[in-house]
Amino acid sequence: MTGHPFPRNRSPQTVAAAAATPPRPAPPRPVRVPDAAVLMSALPVPVVVLDADNRFLYANHAAEQFLGVSISQLAQMQLTDLVPADHPALMLIGQVRRGEVTVSDRDMTFDSPRLHKVGVSVQGTPLPEEPGAVLLMMQDRSAAQTLDRQLSFRSAARSVTGMAAILAHEVKNPLSGIRGAAQLLESSVAEPDRELAVLIRDEADRIRALVDRMEMFGEKPIERTAVNIHRVLEHVRRLAQSGFAAAIHFNEVYDPSLPAVHGNRDQLVQVFLNLVKNAAEAISQGAVINGEITLTTAFQHGVRLAVPGSDRPVHLPLVVSVRDNGPGIPEDIRNSLFDPFVTSKSAGSGLGLALVAKIIADHGGLIEVESRPGRTEFRLHLPMISDDTPITP
Ligand SMILES: Nc1ncnc2c1ncn2[C@@H]1O[C@H](COP(=O)(O)OP(=O)(O)OP(=O)(O)O)[C@@H](O)[C@H]1O
Ligand SMILES: [Mg+2]
Repeated sequence: MTGHPFPRNRSPQTVAAAAATPPRPAPPRPVRVPDAAVLMSALPVPVVVLDADNRFLYANHAAEQFLGVSISQLAQMQLTDLVPADHPALMLIGQVRRGEVTVSDRDMTFDSPRLHKVGVSVQGTPLPEEPGAVLLMMQDRSAAQTLDRQLSFRSAARSVTGMAAILAHEVKNPLSGIRGAAQLLESSVAEPDRELAVLIRDEADRIRALVDRMEMFGEKPIERTAVNIHRVLEHVRRLAQSGFAAAIHFNEVYDPSLPAVHGNRDQLVQVFLNLVKNAAEAISQGAVINGEITLTTAFQHGVRLAVPGSDRPVHLPLVVSVRDNGPGIPEDIRNSLFDPFVTSKSAGSGLGLALVAKIIADHGGLIEVESRPGRTEFRLHLPMISDDTPITP
């Protein structure tokens, strides 16, 4: 690293003179911005710059450590010396060059004889002054204490869809037979056995409700219009506060200029109702005294997100998040959070987040989760409406 850009020592005389004079407003101090190379080399995040042929033009110290190769060696190398030619990082770089946009992928794996890292967040940015050059930032997410994964959940959603169809078909008919038979028994059997018949009827109803919920996973095409997401959130907040979240304080941090979401209003209500309900349940389970749920909307400029299995990054500029100050997602279910029937609640069905994942996948959106004790956030990246679509009130 080059020399320290700021003068560190003041001479003793200067200090004494300053103490003797009466206090006076300090003259404005000129802001001195350290040299870019100094900043980059001090940055704890690995950063490299590649030229149009993917040769390393620059690497900072963090990149040297991350890649396990010295800066002088890197200067003689290309990215393909470190990763195979079909590695997703190269696809991402191609997308950056083609679209001249920033592209990020939050869950990349680097696996080669020299390098083994899982769950790496990679962001590529074009450098307009240097045609074809790409600035690549990498971050080892497994090192972080928090869970912060970006998932498209398409496979989870697909497995649920198939299962839903089978369940609905195979379970509903016999179930109504069982229910009817139990009802008949209720009126004909002696008192002690009547209780058992009621139990059968009630349990049949419970299964029926579960199957009905599963049916929502069906493969029906969704109708999408321009949805005002603030109205959706407002509706969800009102529902929550008049019921399960009556004792919880809500913060709303909205970007009023946010364009409409290209989505299905009712399904988006379902999504946010599930997220807010989970947040409220976490707060009450954790016996949090000042329970708080924060709903946020924001517009994310410029960034395109890489989608696993697709060579076209998606433009999802609308970010809507639900944050709570509950105890955090239990460690043992973090990796299967969005799978159906995964629950830590005695009365939970574990279908809420599976449904959220399915709906967001149908919208072409993405979900990010970050959780630690005292702060859990679900961030949804949603597509924006094009100008000619009618707005749903
Ligand atoms: N905000 C949150 N804070 C802490 N844990 C959460 C949060 N959201 C979800 N979870 C965890 O994820 C699990 C799965 O959530 P999901 O909504 O899929 O099912 P559920 O809430 O248990 O049941 P259901 O939604 O079907 O009533 C929950 O049981 C809980 O352990
Ligand atoms: Mg739930």
